[in-house]
Amino acid sequence: MTITNDIKYVGVNDHEIDLFEGQYVVPLGMAYNSYLIIDNEIAIMDSVDKNFKDEWLLNIEKELKGKLPSYLVISHMEPDHSANIKVFMDKYKDAIIVSTQMAFNMMKAYFNTDFSERKIVVKENDTLSLGKHELRFITAPFVHWPEVMFTYDNYDKVLFSADAFGKFGANDKIDPEGWACEARRYYFGIVGKFGQNVQNVLKKLEGLEIKTICSLHGPVLNEDLDYYLNIYNIWSSYQSEASAVTIAYTSVYGNTKEAVLLLKEKLEEKNIEVALHDLARDDMPEALESAFENDRLVLATTTYNGGMFPTMETFINELKGHNYQNRKIAFIENGSWAPSAIKAMKSSLEGLKDITFLNSNVSIKGSLKDENIEQINKLVQELSN
Ligand code: FEO
Repeated sequence: MTITNDIKYVGVNDHEIDLFEGQYVVPLGMAYNSYLIIDNEIAIMDSVDKNFKDEWLLNIEKELKGKLPSYLVISHMEPDHSANIKVFMDKYKDAIIVSTQMAFNMMKAYFNTDFSERKIVVKENDTLSLGKHELRFITAPFVHWPEVMFTYDNYDKVLFSADAFGKFGANDKIDPEGWACEARRYYFGIVGKFGQNVQNVLKKLEGLEIKTICSLHGPVLNEDLDYYLNIYNIWSSYQSEASAVTIAYTSVYGNTKEAVLLLKEKLEEKNIEVALHDLARDDMPEALESAFENDRLVLATTTYNGGMFPTMETFINELKGHNYQNRKIAFIENGSWAPSAIKAMKSSLEGLKDITFLNSNVSIKGSLKDENIEQINKLVQELSN
């Protein structure tokens, strides 16, 4: 695939993977992107997952057309991109690795060598000339590991953005939901905790003319780039994208589910959009994504061992672990003799930034009663304000 006259795609698609990064389901597979820049000197941008070593090396060989690469630029050391560094360096004996000091430290950790005789350590704004293409390196710590850097090609105005602007899904599958849905699930699951770091690097990009974004995952972006930059600004500044309610619930015997279904129905009657997630059965990263996308969250769960149901505890830990903030939260609890899940959920969420707990909570004893329907009506009212 041609990105520009001089920049070629040499990445791979993975349809065998069961869980990306050991935890994310990827029904459309995954892409590990790598690129090759042809100039007086040839640079390869990152490697791919270890299972695709041969395919990657073959892709490179085809584009080299008998020439030899001068540089392997490493943006990120997570093994889905870095696994084949040593194989590449063994094959191309004159190649030099270009990366940050911290990435070289990680190479030592992974390969027991930091390629000391064959490396260029780059810092913020350092440049490397390939001929007409001048590469500028922009550090992007914690987007999403500490060693990460972006590379800007001054000639073709291409930003190589490491994991940023990536999405789940292989590039040879059409995603029926478009780019944003799986890009959002990817962002909040993988990069979401580091919003401030993303903000910092977005600031560094201001003023750069960017015609194409080449991420390490997902499609090459070369149209409507303001949309992608803007959505990354929204996500990384923890603003909500939609005026809607996410309801995340657990239910053992169906009574809590009955309450959330009633709440959903009543909210929809008021034209409020609702996303419902069963935390024990639905994809947890999808529920997390939804909580970040929408501006209001309802947590509904059964009392369990004097606290909350385990999958709700996991979900709240996910919210906390990903820096959830700047949202309104309401609660529904159920308990057969002493409902106490609201207290447990509130206490667990304490300390999160700019979170408002709504006043109209719903407390159910066993099954839904008239008084609970009244509480749900009040909650609908408060969620509508
Ligand atoms: Fe795609 Fe953070 O590795």
